[in-house]
Amino acid sequence: MATEVKRGAQAEFKGKSSSEDPLTSRLISEHRGLEKLFQQYEQLPPDTDPKERLQLGYEMIRQISLHAATEEMVLYPAIAKHQSKEDAERLLAETHAAQQVLADLNAVSDPADLRVAELVRKTIQMTREHIRDEEASCLPHLSQALEPAELQRLARQFAAARGVAPTRPHPYAPTRPPWNVPAMAAAVPVDMVRDVVRFGLRNLKSDVDRA
Ligand SMILES: [Fe+2]
Ligand SMILES: [Fe+2]
Repeated sequence: MATEVKRGAQAEFKGKSSSEDPLTSRLISEHRGLEKLFQQYEQLPPDTDPKERLQLGYEMIRQISLHAATEEMVLYPAIAKHQSKEDAERLLAETHAAQQVLADLNAVSDPADLRVAELVRKTIQMTREHIRDEEASCLPHLSQALEPAELQRLARQFAAARGVAPTRPHPYAPTRPPWNVPAMAAAVPVDMVRDVVRFGLRNLKSDVDRA
């Protein structure tokens, strides 16, 4: 597995512009959004209310779950088809390992639970390593291997898949086609109801279009 990504590090993608490869642009943008969330947590003052810490942990669960599920539906099958089955399997295994940690964090309801800090630390570390892995070789290779028309088609698929992506970890759900997509879609309404309880309806408005 790759070493920890440097904070704020921007991967270099030479060759295709963002209009030629909107898939990579979108993925990088989502990765930067996750990194922002991680830094927000890491920069919380020591006297921060444990409720606020756990709430930020829950937000990580939601954003990572959406991102990971969408990649599982669109990105990894594309990597397996056009680039390397081994790379796709490794990324899937990394995602699955992170899901186990997310599931443990998701099960915590008491902000005073001493496991919160360690589970969030692990979540951040594993996600950074995974992002580094994707950006260091998988995405540049896919970008080079595919024509702009195919990359644009995948970017549209990626955006559409977010609409049927769960917002919570489901580590025991199928991870491969054809059963992964219906399993994820089935989980969405249940996740949404639970998220309304956890975050409040007002805070979930940005999730309605999942833009
Ligand atoms: Fe990923
Ligand atoms: Fe990613």
